[in-house]
Amino acid sequence: MSLAERCALFTGKSATETRDFPAYGIDSLRMTDGPSGVRADLAEGAGSRSLCYPSACLLACSFDRDAARRTGQLLGRDGRARGVDLLLGPAVNLKRSPLCGRNFEYYSEDPCLTGEMAAAFVEGVQESTGACAKHFAANNRENKRMSVDCVVDKRTLRETYLSSFRRIVKKSPPDAVMTAYNRINGEFAGENAYTLEQVLRGDWAYDGLVVSDWGAVDDVVASVRRGMDLEMPGNSSAARKLERAVKRGDMTEERLTERAAEALRRADAVRARRCKADFDGEEALKALADIAAESAVLLKNEGELLPLRGAKRIGIFGELAVKPRIQGGGCANVATYETANIERAVRERFADCECVFSLGYAEGAEDGEALVREALETARTCDACVVAMGLPESYESEGYDRTDIEIPPEQTAFLRRLGEVNPRVAVLLYGGSMISLDFERYARAVVMCYLGGSATGLAAAKILSGDTPPAGRLAETFLYRKEDASCHPFSSPDSDVEVYGEGLFVGYKYYGAKGTAVRYPFGYGLNYGRAEYEDAEISEDSVRLTLVGDPRYDVRETVQIYVGFPDCGYARPIAELKEFRKVTVPRGERVTVEIPLGRDCFETYDAAADAMTVRGGRAVIGVRRNALEVVAEKTVVLEGEKGARYDRNTLIGELLKTRAGIRVIEEKLKGHLIRAILGNFRADILPMKDGRAIGHDRFNSIMESMPLRALVNLTGGAFSEEEMEEIVDGLREGE
Ligand code: BGC
Repeated sequence: MSLAERCALFTGKSATETRDFPAYGIDSLRMTDGPSGVRADLAEGAGSRSLCYPSACLLACSFDRDAARRTGQLLGRDGRARGVDLLLGPAVNLKRSPLCGRNFEYYSEDPCLTGEMAAAFVEGVQESTGACAKHFAANNRENKRMSVDCVVDKRTLRETYLSSFRRIVKKSPPDAVMTAYNRINGEFAGENAYTLEQVLRGDWAYDGLVVSDWGAVDDVVASVRRGMDLEMPGNSSAARKLERAVKRGDMTEERLTERAAEALRRADAVRARRCKADFDGEEALKALADIAAESAVLLKNEGELLPLRGAKRIGIFGELAVKPRIQGGGCANVATYETANIERAVRERFADCECVFSLGYAEGAEDGEALVREALETARTCDACVVAMGLPESYESEGYDRTDIEIPPEQTAFLRRLGEVNPRVAVLLYGGSMISLDFERYARAVVMCYLGGSATGLAAAKILSGDTPPAGRLAETFLYRKEDASCHPFSSPDSDVEVYGEGLFVGYKYYGAKGTAVRYPFGYGLNYGRAEYEDAEISEDSVRLTLVGDPRYDVRETVQIYVGFPDCGYARPIAELKEFRKVTVPRGERVTVEIPLGRDCFETYDAAADAMTVRGGRAVIGVRRNALEVVAEKTVVLEGEKGARYDRNTLIGELLKTRAGIRVIEEKLKGHLIRAILGNFRADILPMKDGRAIGHDRFNSIMESMPLRALVNLTGGAFSEEEMEEIVDGLREGE
């Protein structure tokens, strides 16, 4: 290939294709969005229709890797059947702010849940089509997304914003990773020396295709140098810039050729996935309806109003029942077929009941009062009322952020008046992100249905009938006020710089530490029926417990394992989700589950090594029903990773964290410590237990903050430099 051709490899041919070079046997790759369905209109032209899949915000609430894998499988086959090589999804940025316009496309405020669910989704997609995890990284707001500089410390990046990508890359490497629009600590994500070159390409040895977000590239030469393989969409000046850089000597021709060969090899790996795939849209829709219903979160259900059993006359209300919100706006938006709306699907499922519909509210209605009155008349004689409500389409989209967390006031006003004439009200709530639930007091039952795609209507019927009960858990905290959000003090809607001042304390990790009252915590959700927990046995290798079934319902329970690190040496959240399992507990039965805990459950960031590591010390492992409700807890003592440094500046407090360290204190240091702190060398005057002087808290406090080297000075050399070195060596060997 000529130099010009080699340079042209780094940029696309069109908005959705890479360049082909028939003379060299190089075929184009076809790409399209995305996470919530094949954007056939983009790939095939206007008029093309596709199935719309449940958005990630809903799928995440299933806490069910199998559901994510199945959804991915269907989407992959759907894409492959339409000739797509690379699906531009999943989108795995964290819901750092409840106001981010694109939250509907993202999974969660938690990196473990995001990473695990997205890895399973990628695994499913890649049975037939390539997947592209996006947007790498720290793309957590839409306002000024193409220029904002996200200032994030390395610990927070590694433990939070990069962590979900790391799980995916480790567990189920996607064929591609898309870099984000924003800057990270001053450098654009697409040319970032730290996140792209050092972490993704270096530390994680990611060898897939790195593609820019559409229109994100600022300096194509820097991007190619740092590891980007493809600038999208196609743009002829990119190739010319690269050629010029080589001619000017800014990049050697050898280096460019090497990079071109890599880019080609990575694109070949995507092409190698090509296979024959059949796709049956009808079958897929049925499967997605079950997934959407089961992922929905039952927030309240007073007097067991749901499932609707024994109702003879069911009232269905709300504009969203006939014009449902099924997806978010922007590039994830799929031109889809007409499928059953909520009103029609409920009517069909409850064919043996009388189902009556009245709007009650409608966006921009001329005579809102008339709509309310008419609906109230209908409602008076119903055994149960179902109201579909939530965020209108214009409230959330790619490209801009929300300004608050409220739904339109006419919806709340209608619900209040409805509750006054008929208290048996169930709300089906739609939207892609957290919503203020001030209205919930007017309803006996509330189900957060998020955005269910083409299956939204069918899923609503399954939820209300109990054919497929809602069993989701919130993947984000529901707050009372937007001002309570963890990022709130550090975030302003139009700033050019977004300082991630809350650090590791994102979402529930902040509310737990600060004691902020929340409406519904992360991980929260009810079931029809309830499983109880018994006999939890917790160790650092696994959690084993028995779930006792409900006598009346089969329950799909979500076991959540959280870990806290009181000894990690820096301020951090009390408990972080590290594992979870969806378990079916048949009615009246007992099910015992064992959940293995990998070493990665205990990793924290080691600043000196700029890497994740397991440090020795205590870890609190807890089984929780949600982020706040502890079922059982146990403290274990972890042995540290080899290489976790001990040196002359190691504090005695650090030694207290391991059994080996405690032995050193009791057997070798005790006398010296007494001399250094009390000026007395009689080791027998302070009896010790577990490395601490019994009944001498002040002594212990002083001791804990003392570095080993200080013992040499403070004992006048009685504790020698050589002895200290021997102890440090011994501790290192024992690691
Ligand atoms: C979005 C990406 C998307 C791309 C192509 C961009 O605006 O940020 O997520 O894949 O467009 O449609």
